[in-house]
Amino acid sequence: MHVAGPPSSRWAAYLGLLSALSAAFAPAVAVKEHDFKKCHQSGFCQRNRAFADHALASTAWESPYTIAAESGSFKDGQYQAVILKTVSDSGETVRLPITVSFLESGTARVTVDEEKRQKGEIELRHDSKARKERYNEAEQWAIVGGMTLDKAAKIGYEDKTQITVKYGPSSKFEATIKLSPFSIDFKRDGSSQIKFNDQGLLNVEHWRPKIEKPEPEKTEGESTEENKAEETKEEPKDEDESTWWDETFGGNTDTKPRGPESVALDISFVGYEHVYGIPSHASSLSLKQTRGGDGNYQEPYRMYNADVFEYILDSPMTLYGSIPFMQAHRKDSSVGVFWLNAAETWVDITKGKDAKNPLSLGGKAKTNTHTHWISESGLLDVFVFLGPTPKDLTAKYGELTGTTAMPQEFSLGYHQCRWNYVSDDDVKDVDRKMDKFKMPYDVIWLDIEYTDEKKYFTWDKHTFTDPIGMGKQLDSHGRKLVTIIDPHIKNVDNYPVVAEMKSKDLGVKNKEGNLFEGWCWPGSSHWIDAFSPASREWWSSLFKYDTFKGTMENTWIWNDMNEPSVFNGPETTMPKDNLHDGNWEHRDVHNLNGMTFQNATYHALITRKPGELRRPFVLTRSFFAGSQRVGAMWTGDNQAAWDHLQASIPMILSQGIAGFPFSGADVGGFFGNPDKDLLTRWYQAGAFYPFFRGHAHIDARRREPYLIGEPYTTIIGAALRLRYSLLPSWYTAFRHAHLDGTPVVKPMFYTHPSEEAGLAIDDQFFVGNTGLLAKPVTEKDQVSVDVWIPDAEVYYDYFTYAVVPTRKGERVALEAPMEKIPLLMRGGHVFARRDVPRRSSALMRWDDYTLVVTVPRDGKAAVAAEGDLYVDDGDSFDFQDGQYIHRRFVFDGAAKSLTSVDAEGRDTAAIKEGEWMQRMRAVGVDKIVVVGAPASWAGKKSVTVESEGKTWEARVEFTPAAQGRAAFAVVKKVGVRIGADWRVGF
Ligand SMILES: *[C@@H]1O[C@H](CO)[C@@H](O)[C@H](O)[C@H]1NC(C)=O
Repeated sequence: MHVAGPPSSRWAAYLGLLSALSAAFAPAVAVKEHDFKKCHQSGFCQRNRAFADHALASTAWESPYTIAAESGSFKDGQYQAVILKTVSDSGETVRLPITVSFLESGTARVTVDEEKRQKGEIELRHDSKARKERYNEAEQWAIVGGMTLDKAAKIGYEDKTQITVKYGPSSKFEATIKLSPFSIDFKRDGSSQIKFNDQGLLNVEHWRPKIEKPEPEKTEGESTEENKAEETKEEPKDEDESTWWDETFGGNTDTKPRGPESVALDISFVGYEHVYGIPSHASSLSLKQTRGGDGNYQEPYRMYNADVFEYILDSPMTLYGSIPFMQAHRKDSSVGVFWLNAAETWVDITKGKDAKNPLSLGGKAKTNTHTHWISESGLLDVFVFLGPTPKDLTAKYGELTGTTAMPQEFSLGYHQCRWNYVSDDDVKDVDRKMDKFKMPYDVIWLDIEYTDEKKYFTWDKHTFTDPIGMGKQLDSHGRKLVTIIDPHIKNVDNYPVVAEMKSKDLGVKNKEGNLFEGWCWPGSSHWIDAFSPASREWWSSLFKYDTFKGTMENTWIWNDMNEPSVFNGPETTMPKDNLHDGNWEHRDVHNLNGMTFQNATYHALITRKPGELRRPFVLTRSFFAGSQRVGAMWTGDNQAAWDHLQASIPMILSQGIAGFPFSGADVGGFFGNPDKDLLTRWYQAGAFYPFFRGHAHIDARRREPYLIGEPYTTIIGAALRLRYSLLPSWYTAFRHAHLDGTPVVKPMFYTHPSEEAGLAIDDQFFVGNTGLLAKPVTEKDQVSVDVWIPDAEVYYDYFTYAVVPTRKGERVALEAPMEKIPLLMRGGHVFARRDVPRRSSALMRWDDYTLVVTVPRDGKAAVAAEGDLYVDDGDSFDFQDGQYIHRRFVFDGAAKSLTSVDAEGRDTAAIKEGEWMQRMRAVGVDKIVVVGAPASWAGKKSVTVESEGKTWEARVEFTPAAQGRAAFAVVKKVGVRIGADWRVGF
């Protein structure tokens, strides 16, 4: 078999060349870093960094971008003008229209385009079919709302040099646009928060014709250093043109029909020391500086979705997905930017003391964070958020790009995956063993080997003889099957799927406009172009039950390799000069590719059967801003190593604050074999991932959790059951993510934005609004952890009710022997559980609830503790028609009562109950546990329950405080309906 270019390591793995090796040494094999570009190997990144170095080195530097006098106008919440770029060597001016839009939400948007030239003025090279204008459709895929202009925005001040627009809630925000050189200063309450082009790094590489110069003939092997030196001498200024018109990396040459066209801008966060976001990177939550120095990176954070085989940790290297949304935070203030660009993007981060004002208030020089954003092509398009809270940022960002889809309830349960379950009998056997060992789980997964020779939508006839039989066995306990479907379609005869794709012309094209062919799991393949409406419609047709035979109502889908991964392509992906729908270059849309494919699958599943309207479950590896609307993601091919377990937590926290909280890492680690301690600790951590899936490489030993042996089997079983008992609270947290973009697991800076000492903490988190504070053990042989305590509230141990001796802002050591997950309950919350262990979430649907009340320090307050519970049928879209229960629980310490009311103040009696709501009438609250119950309750035998016009007594058992354990009371057989209003008087 001949493979063009150097075989990628994945390709080699596929050929089986490395399988023996990687089975033995997998964790030691690191990603081939040199398979991926560094900034200096990416022409536009190199040029923009050089531009920055030049600008920052000179005190006399002045940005060559100026708003043309008299070009500006302001109307209906929008400022429009033309920026003139003076080209230094030719003196030519380039016209760049700018629009600053002030949105009703208080978000501002700055868009800079390049004026279209007359046809013929700019000729593309190679007779390329590529579109000539700058890519301007990223918005079409990423943005779903929040674009109404703020008609109340008004000019606050204007003269010949600048204009100030006041906007946002109570006009507290303002943007001062300076004309020459161009810059914008975004202020809140009169003080600067975010500055554009303050350092003068704005750079829009304008269109220019290619001037063919006679090139000295180069022969293979001959050094061209001399020639280069010659050229540089002749060229004016510092412009390095060597990668303007083509660029070679790893044996692949990218032709650039439009020439250089990057956009770059410096964005300064004034007085902000921490920036977060721009996932996915195996890095810390608080992002590091990237221009060298102690503990800093040398390379910018890169966003260019790629199949990074065995990725390395603590690195700004790109991974599988990208969300160019960044939050900056300092004590009590959050602001942020969303850089809407889907091309390859790099972000440099530096921090520095405010040199201009060293004696500023308090005598303490402020630290500013400077970021330098560099994208290869497209518009310069940036949204600016002025906070002031982290919650404001996730909400406003969610308004624009959409929030997390309400998930299938089962998808919050445990997922059992490996590459591969080898047959339908194997699947059925694992299913039975999970039951035998009392391990709850919801979903079993099939990786690529279930197919007939990697032809998606088919089954291997020898190993999966009866997929429906398999599906039915799973269904008998409410379980599901997820099968993998990737975007590469095997290029082979007698495969109707590829035949149809070719005949209908639905694939991605190469630069000549012919169907692109490359290599992936099946060998020679073509790629569906999910940017094309016709392709998406065709994709939908493939998932119908009678087309994808062997699937049934409990089959859902996993989309892998959608960066897209192309084994023989540049950086294991598609050539940038490939063409998509509308003849946009792949270069322009690369980071959107994964999302459009996952979305195509999502819509295919929605239309699987007429009349069947259920929420699809689709897992994706690649993603962009907006992917949260259509499914879950995982952090890709990690390793069975402690440091990968550790890295998973900041990665998941970053996903959450970037609007895509439905995330997890492969439990156990994909490559290699975890030892028993590691696997067990990983299950305990995974039980607190929003997406909880165990997965393993084909060469890894079998590691279904029941195989591990005692005492680990029992410990893992307990972690799984803990996850299942807390499912009502997880589901409620997802409801909040769905409503307003709030992360499901929250870092300290998010919940406690005033506590400076917590701003960089990324190894512990709160779950939803429950007050549950988890700090998974991620180190070998660790038997205690230090939890940082963000406030003066009381904290109880989740399992023992011990009052943890905490002090605000200090760390407290918690014992964490192997069987223990460090998990605290913060005083002041009410959360829901279901305490009867069952095999799957579906089997728990009609179980009664347990409510846990954690009494705070001030137990006498009227709202001493509160919390909520959201529940719906977990499957359909009926919740959109009010078919849900959402209760708010308040523990009143003065009146000594716990009440339940509709959380949204709805008149629940007026809701016409569908089938699910009617069945929920039989579901109630079985138990209420009050942790930290007042000593005065001793001797209490019963409590008074009032609901639906009736009053009765329920039994209560009080256990006094002892040996550091809080007093607690348990009310049994409460007897209220979960959907009804009620009051329990203590
Ligand atoms: C998702 O698919 C729908 C249906 O084909 C389409 O209307 C929409 O534009 C797509 N969105 C994305 C982000 O791909």
